[in-house]
Amino acid sequence: MAGRFAGKVAIVTGSSSGIGQSIAIRLGSEGASVVVDFLNHPENADQTKSQIEAAGGKAITLQADVTKPAEVQNLVEQAHAQLGGCDILVNNAGVEKHAPFWEATEADYDLVLNTNLKAAFFLSQRFVQKLMEAKKPGRIINISSVHEDMVFPNFASYCAAKGGMRMLMRDLAMELGPYNITVNNVAPGAINTPINKSLLADKPKLDALLRNIPLGRLGEPEDVASLVAFLASDEAAYVTGSTYFVDGGLIRNYKEQ
Ligand SMILES: NC(=O)c1ccc[n+]([C@@H]2O[C@H](COP(=O)([O-])OP(=O)(O)OC[C@H]3O[C@@H](n4cnc5c(N)ncnc54)[C@H](O)[C@@H]3O)[C@@H](O)[C@H]2O)c1
Repeated sequence: MAGRFAGKVAIVTGSSSGIGQSIAIRLGSEGASVVVDFLNHPENADQTKSQIEAAGGKAITLQADVTKPAEVQNLVEQAHAQLGGCDILVNNAGVEKHAPFWEATEADYDLVLNTNLKAAFFLSQRFVQKLMEAKKPGRIINISSVHEDMVFPNFASYCAAKGGMRMLMRDLAMELGPYNITVNNVAPGAINTPINKSLLADKPKLDALLRNIPLGRLGEPEDVASLVAFLASDEAAYVTGSTYFVDGGLIRNYKEQ
């Protein structure tokens, strides 16, 4: 299939819903063969795959709990075995847990840190090892959050994980630059996906948030996917070590008093 990613293979974690699904469809529609990773809804992963195939692309679906290094690293093995390699990695899977700091549990802390940060660490490690063996360039794109930089009271573990992802990205960009592997973060603001379902159901809270967004609307998953596609493309060959916000201006928290 022709397109910007013709001949390339991409892994997108957590791509059975939301932002990950949109990224997988975007990369697949532009020619990449995509590994669609899911945790527990195979029917939704099949939907991602069908949409890629409807656009003329190729995809496989694989179950992997990203909190388990052996499972997540198997995504790389399968990309090589079934699709002939792996050039682009999008660390997208994520969860958040709400609790005042003094009530947060160890179980929730482990879930949030392991899903958002540990998974990206060990999946990127295997992805990079295979690229080095093959002496090939690559792209790592982490879906972090405005909360890699902006406070989010009652979500301390999420902020710790996404802040960790920011420094992981900066460090890997230095270590992997000499191997022509670029590493960047895409930091969404408030995007219309299932992770925000309680916010979307709470009109006063949603309206207050919208007043803090200069563009005055939530983002759509496609708004994030188009930035990821740019960073994954040849046009971004000289881009590494930075975070790119896609947040309608939320991080600036514009207010005219
Ligand atoms: N929606 C937003 O407003 C927003 C803002 C900033 C950052 N983000 C980040 O974007 C990413 C995608 O979130 P989303 O908004 O699409 O929500 P979502 O809930 O639709 O997507 C999260 C995905 O991660 C998967 N996942 C969770 N735990 C997993 C595990 N252990 N193994 C494999 N997959 C797992 C889920 O199954 C789901 O597909 C997350 O990293 C999130 O932190 C979202």
